[in-house]
Amino acid sequence: MITKDRAKEIISRFKDINILVVGDLILDKYLWGDVERISPEAPVPVVDVKKETVNLGGACNVAWNISALNGNVHIAGVIGRDENGRVLEFLLKEKNVNPILIKDPSRPTTEKTRIIAVSQQLMRIDREDKSKISLEILEELIDRIDSVIEDVDAIIVSDYGKGVITKELMDYLRSMEKPIFVDPKPSNVDLYHRVTIMTPNKKEAYELARLDRDNPIERVGKFLMEKLQMEQLLITLGAEGMALFTEDNIVKIPAKARKVYDVTGAGDTVISVLALSKAAGGTWEESASLANYAAGYVVGEIGTAVVSQEKLIELIP
Ligand SMILES: Nc1ncnc2c1ncn2[C@@H]1O[C@H](COP(=O)(O)OP(=O)(O)OP(=O)(O)O)[C@@H](O)[C@H]1O
Ligand SMILES: [Mg+2]
Repeated sequence: MITKDRAKEIISRFKDINILVVGDLILDKYLWGDVERISPEAPVPVVDVKKETVNLGGACNVAWNISALNGNVHIAGVIGRDENGRVLEFLLKEKNVNPILIKDPSRPTTEKTRIIAVSQQLMRIDREDKSKISLEILEELIDRIDSVIEDVDAIIVSDYGKGVITKELMDYLRSMEKPIFVDPKPSNVDLYHRVTIMTPNKKEAYELARLDRDNPIERVGKFLMEKLQMEQLLITLGAEGMALFTEDNIVKIPAKARKVYDVTGAGDTVISVLALSKAAGGTWEESASLANYAAGYVVGEIGTAVVSQEKLIELIP
């Protein structure tokens, strides 16, 4: 699909690429502990917390994937006027991501906390407000994006359905006439027409198309492209790799078989590498192939991981 020399050529241009990530910002928190007894208050385990860690989640993880590959990246989204918002800003800057963070005092910064004991997730606790952002916040967001958009080579929309991605914002982004890469939320399907490419997983593809599982994936993809007037579509197929749809062709790219530790974040890696490679002059097939190598690597690492340029080159035979 792609030779090592060609991959090196494309990857060496990442440093000159500017990507704008727009979407739902999430702070991932982890409470690590031990369970030694059942609570006297209710039939639930008592977790003795030994360690607390935080990580970039949602659209922030996409931006981190890009900076880890030496791409230049801005991230635009909404946070609350709270401590988690400050933590998110600190983490983004630490990872060389340029933050455009609009503070909305009416909502909390989206937070997902996992409680993990004996290597097992016991519970997840979410704090979020999924309502659509107000007109005032939208205008502030567009104003700030407008000041950086000129130098942007590609836009990634990372929609986790938390209210930032709206029809008005998508209309604005389309009017900038830059390539738009979308990691979609199926319930927002009506927002994505005429984008450059979308990267749903298999389940999301069926949901977006509102077709049932009897339909082969080829039909689902073609139907989606027609419905949304897209010229490209990349459906990720988990352990089976991905299917790249272009105007006149469907190419299946098999996944590299490897030990899987943690599939979370694989989709974020796919869209990051796809956008960087395409902006760096790769063909759709070359870009999807690189994205497939990168995602295959991150699923083999514990915790949400990112890939470096050196590692990505090393992965290609
Ligand atoms: N078991 C696996 N073995 C090898 N590669 C995998 C495996 N699972 C996922 N991948 C790689 O990751 C890519 C994306 O996986 P998947 O289709 O599960 O996306 P996703 O559901 O959007 O992930 P996410 O949980 O990040 O949203 C695949 O196209 C493939 O390259
Ligand atoms: Mg996904």
